[in-house]
Amino acid sequence: MQLALSTWQEVEDHLRDHEGIIVPIGSVEQHGPNGLIGTDHLCAEFVAQGVGDRIGCMVAPTLTYGMSQHHLGFTGSATLRPSTLMLVVRDVVQSLAVHGFRRFFFINGHGGNVATVTAGFDELYALKSLGLADPELRCRMVFWSGPRAKAVADDLYKGVNGSHATAAEVSLAQYYKQDAIKHAQMTPKVAPTAPQFFEAADYRKRFPDGRIGSDPSQSTPDHGKRLYEAAVEDMVEAYNAFLAY
Ligand code: NI
Repeated sequence: MQLALSTWQEVEDHLRDHEGIIVPIGSVEQHGPNGLIGTDHLCAEFVAQGVGDRIGCMVAPTLTYGMSQHHLGFTGSATLRPSTLMLVVRDVVQSLAVHGFRRFFFINGHGGNVATVTAGFDELYALKSLGLADPELRCRMVFWSGPRAKAVADDLYKGVNGSHATAAEVSLAQYYKQDAIKHAQMTPKVAPTAPQFFEAADYRKRFPDGRIGSDPSQSTPDHGKRLYEAAVEDMVEAYNAFLAY
């Protein structure tokens, strides 16, 4: 069930016997020579909607923009500053909590969001502890690929899935948006890695075509289908565990 495709009366009915909602969150940032700028939010949205279709839970509209300052050296990337993203998370959660949602399960497509969104959750818990927010509010964020999807990615791309513009996320986005599949030559075939990077200029210098450690020339929509099915299983299990916690 999608919030954006529901009427307010349908949401009110749903809230009579549900208190959970899934919030997909991603980014708007470069994903190398054959990855879409929307890859992270598309992957999170696709899997979240798959969970909604499977178990009938409510799925919020996707938070498309994320914390992507390190990608601004590449055309088309856009970022929220951490302070902005924390406020976005807080305002969305508190707005939906007004109506009775109590359990917020964020399905994330972008590693760069983790520190900031987790800090946003801590803001909410601080407000709870101060008596300034709904005492029943709970939030959790997980990456869209749980153990089943990671096992599929390992099987398909052993050692070359990488950590940005991964072969797995490019495949998943290809399966979701088959009219937007891109092909590109990539040199070197497997992108470089580094233990740390800083701001956008530093990132661009270390990772000239935008990828980190990946070979997404191997990506296919058929791989994306396998990853999707595994990820939906993973997220159904993780969401149910969160509700039961
Ligand atoms: Ni990504």
